[in-house]
Amino acid sequence: MVELARESLHTSVTDPVAASMNFLNEVASRFPAAISLAAGRPFDEFYEVTDIERYLAAYIAHLRAEGMSEPRVRQAVLQYGRTNGQLGMMISRMLEIDEGIRVPEESVMVTSGCQEAMIIALRGLAAEPEDVVLADEPCYVGFTGAARVLGVPVVSVPEAAQGLSPEAVARVAREVRASGRRPRALYVVSNFANPSGVSLSDEARRGLLEVAADEDLLILEDDPYGLFGSDDTCRPTLKSLDTDQRVIYLGSFAKSVFPGARVGFLVADQAVVSADGHRSLLADELSTVKSMVTVNTSPIAQAVIGGVLASCGYSLRAANREKIAFYRRNMAALLAALERHFADLATTWNTPSGGFFAVLRVPVRADEKLLELSARDYGVLWTPMSFFYTRGGGSHAIRLSCSALATGQIEEGVRRLATLIADARS
Ligand SMILES: Cc1ncc(COP(=O)(O)O)c(C=O)c1O
Repeated sequence: MVELARESLHTSVTDPVAASMNFLNEVASRFPAAISLAAGRPFDEFYEVTDIERYLAAYIAHLRAEGMSEPRVRQAVLQYGRTNGQLGMMISRMLEIDEGIRVPEESVMVTSGCQEAMIIALRGLAAEPEDVVLADEPCYVGFTGAARVLGVPVVSVPEAAQGLSPEAVARVAREVRASGRRPRALYVVSNFANPSGVSLSDEARRGLLEVAADEDLLILEDDPYGLFGSDDTCRPTLKSLDTDQRVIYLGSFAKSVFPGARVGFLVADQAVVSADGHRSLLADELSTVKSMVTVNTSPIAQAVIGGVLASCGYSLRAANREKIAFYRRNMAALLAALERHFADLATTWNTPSGGFFAVLRVPVRADEKLLELSARDYGVLWTPMSFFYTRGGGSHAIRLSCSALATGQIEEGVRRLATLIADARS
């Protein structure tokens, strides 16, 4: 029998972050009754199996209403499709209605989740061995993991309590350049980041665009939580403020529709100029990468998402009113429970203005050992913040997620966590 040394495999296989996430899943499966303040997935009960056929039928009805012939309808759903997908028009309308982003439909590429959008953007941009991407730290593991799979180095920009600072990005970009490498792009989650819950201030948004222009960086803006603000304050996406195509926008339907569709998208409206003067859109150029990764995003999955968009007049903000209200209640419940149970425990936490996550800083080491004890003896799961740092950090901090729980369970989960921390301290 062939035996392969684990160390002989690519570093993305032995990635310590993936190992940490596997450990978390493994602990969760051993203690299924534990309340999970770790799971960042959307709330299960928003979905019904019957939604799939309803939205599929809505999309097919939409195609017929547009005058598409039956053979073409059949092809649209069942055949290999256009590499960049068939929802470009619908997504560009949605972006205009919900976010004030005006982009041509040709600049939209439909992807297999936002995860594939990250991989395609990274692959297309990081061309030379000296190319690196900057990313806010703590960082979403899907992004650092994608970079690792592709062998693209990530240089961290530490996130301050109030979010990523443009000055820090400029400083790191200059340091990278001074070391002979090229900072190609900056990855940032602009609203209610995973894991920190932090959002960019309006000033920081404008400042980042200025720094991107000064330092010749593209920005990869990832915004899966933007709809879920705790109030109706308008938080303009970087893309909506972007007047000279600095921003590649990464989108996901995982939270606004459902994750099982595995549909996301990217918007790349940058001009690409060839040596012979030929001009094209970056989204078109990147389609070559997509065609070698997933050929095209499942047309059946696209049809389901297309049905959702057609049914809601292209406004996911309108379609998500109930979910928005639910996640607002849950974030308020989480913050209220922290106030009730942690006020006397030498802990601090941030107060995100929306989204699924908050960070609790504790006076004990929040590591895998404590997590296992927590699941086994206290019946509560959470995520060590250290999982989101590439070079150490977050050792005394916990990511709390409030998205997957019924509102009533949050109080009990936080109460159990407070007992754990009080016991661990003494
Ligand atoms: C920051 C961030 N980006 C993207 C995603 C999801 O992407 P996908 O559409 O691949 O599910 C998540 C989900 O957890 C996330 O937290």
